[in-house]
Amino acid sequence: MKTTTVTAVTNQKGGVGKTATTINLAGALAEAGHHVLVVDLDPQGHLTDGLGLDQAPTGDGAASLYRALIGEYTGPVADLIAPHSQPSGRLDVVPNSIEMFMAVRELDKQRAREHRLARLLSVFRDVYDHVLIDAPPSLDILTDNALTAADGVVIPVQAEDSSLKALRLLLPQIASVDADLRETPLRLHGLVVSLLRRPTNRLADSVLAELAKLDGLPILGSVPLGVVVTEAWRYGRTVVDYAPDSEHAAVYRAMAKALEEAR
Ligand SMILES: Nc1ncnc2c1ncn2[C@@H]1O[C@H](COP(=O)(O)OP(=O)(O)OP(=O)(O)O)[C@@H](O)[C@H]1O
Ligand SMILES: [Mg+2]
Repeated sequence: MKTTTVTAVTNQKGGVGKTATTINLAGALAEAGHHVLVVDLDPQGHLTDGLGLDQAPTGDGAASLYRALIGEYTGPVADLIAPHSQPSGRLDVVPNSIEMFMAVRELDKQRAREHRLARLLSVFRDVYDHVLIDAPPSLDILTDNALTAADGVVIPVQAEDSSLKALRLLLPQIASVDADLRETPLRLHGLVVSLLRRPTNRLADSVLAELAKLDGLPILGSVPLGVVVTEAWRYGRTVVDYAPDSEHAAVYRAMAKALEEAR
């Protein structure tokens, strides 16, 4: 029997590489032979787009993550899944639907509102090796659901002062979810320094030095700014598939290995 590891890729700061990290870590894990599910929890639906998939259907009772979260879709949870075309055949996706924009308001009316995603994903425990959740850029009920459903977190950041500030907000939020909503604390797998402009300047170097000093929060990897990431995204492919020999693919493979070894 498989033991599923659920990882939330989260940071309330926008545009720090959460979706690119989720897509490409998932691609690398699938390439390495693991059965992987990615969940698009962001109303923006970027992960769904970046993997070249259609949005989920909308309307009363539609088989979508949104309708399932608010209890209006009660059919098989497996019907929420779309397979991705990565050659390994081991990458599945729960796509976004445009209606997810209403989730914050509608979840407020639900019982056990922070646990809705955990309950849905419990169906996949022991089906997948890894479940990765692409969280929205907010500290709201959707992010609480991601942090409640996950075993651990990966936090994309940029080498900028604003990312240090974002961590000062995010880490207490994780601690409060640990205290109020979870039986066991979330594992902090570490940071992914994303969109790293090279050569780094003095400002970036000083932020990187600060990030490296954070206790209990290792840097899992640094992903340079590179056109292969945006090209792969445009074609709905993962970097390891689109540009298997690129340095970016190597970085994602190394991070996937670290995540797998942490299980
Ligand atoms: N290493 C990279 N090189 C070049 N472009 C990148 C890289 N990583 C991410 N991008 C691009 O930068 C933009 C922001 O990245 P991404 O969407 O992954 O961030 P995000 O944190 O998910 O954003 P949001 O907060 O809006 O959900 C995207 O257009 C993405 O394609
Ligand atoms: Mg995103």
